[in-house]
Amino acid sequence: MTDLVRDPAVLPLADGFGRVHSDLRVSVTDRCNLRCTYCMPAEGLDWLPRAELLTFEELTRIVRVAVDLGVRTVRLTGGEPLLRRGLPDLVAQLAALTPRPQLAMTTNGLGLDRLAGPLADAGLDRVNVSLDTVDREAFHRLTRRDRLPDVVRGLEAAAAAGLHPVKVNAVAMRGVNDEHVADLLDWCLQRGYQLRLIEQMPLDAQHAWQRDAMVTQAEILERLSERFTLSTPPGQRGSAPAETWLVDGGPATVGVVASVSQPFCGSCDRLRLTADGQLRSCLFARDEDDLRGPLRSGVDDETLAVLVRRLVSSKRAGHGIDDPSFLQPQRPMSAIGG
Ligand code: 5AD
Ligand code: SF4
Repeated sequence: MTDLVRDPAVLPLADGFGRVHSDLRVSVTDRCNLRCTYCMPAEGLDWLPRAELLTFEELTRIVRVAVDLGVRTVRLTGGEPLLRRGLPDLVAQLAALTPRPQLAMTTNGLGLDRLAGPLADAGLDRVNVSLDTVDREAFHRLTRRDRLPDVVRGLEAAAAAGLHPVKVNAVAMRGVNDEHVADLLDWCLQRGYQLRLIEQMPLDAQHAWQRDAMVTQAEILERLSERFTLSTPPGQRGSAPAETWLVDGGPATVGVVASVSQPFCGSCDRLRLTADGQLRSCLFARDEDDLRGPLRSGVDDETLAVLVRRLVSSKRAGHGIDDPSFLQPQRPMSAIGG
């Protein structure tokens, strides 16, 4: 029984469509120190009470069970993960697991100037920094905070700490940065950062997303091509959400995450754990599985493994954003994690 439930060699962590899950995104807080207009209102949201957050020990235990089931990459997210006090301690605990998972983090970069070194020392392998524009005024308008210089310092610290490749994630937005995606790429190329442009998804707390206002991959590529020559690199895309192009013959690349216009649900290998211990099979899942309750009531690892497997097996084929029956998930992006 134990082996069947836990050993991925016996039974991979697959769903009903044969997708094997090896990537776990762990949100460590729903709080954020920016207020990106496409994510949350100016006053912020009702943050989770502290007692509902999983402790580092609880998080590590769930990740250990997931690693036993075949998870090989763990990405820390938020809200803003750097707001969680003592984050390098969590990274060290996760890096001590066997087999050691790859450890990545998605951050808005605030505070990374101070924390990149300690996080790398603790075992963090890579970072993605969210940065939608390098125009200071546009950044201020978009995030409602005048903190572009802090993010720039954070990126520099990440590179200096060896958190390679340093990736920059930018959500393409009409009237905000759609006309400047080539400037952003230029800026990233000059500094050796890998830019990935992301189609905006219906995950805002305000439910203001509109399909026809969305900047599509086709439009992003058209804008980039005005300044750069993009070509398709050899090789397979695999389960990576970003499709990659060589810039001016390479080796530099640019990625586009076309979650809406070219969904990649068919090769999705991701699971998500919210800061309050709810396991989700998809950003857009309508339901989640509570792991915190069972964890705090003292269940053993086998029982947790069964819960993880059950959730994976109930995963739906895709997000269905274009279905007439599509409903936005109850949780906004900041409470799920990117
Ligand atoms: N669509 C696409 N990406 C989003 N992000 C936040 N909200 C959305 C959305 N609606 C991005 C952030 C960050 C990552 C966590 O997800 O900009 O890069
Ligand atoms: Fe914070 Fe990220 Fe939301 Fe911006 S998009 S407010 S950085 S959680």
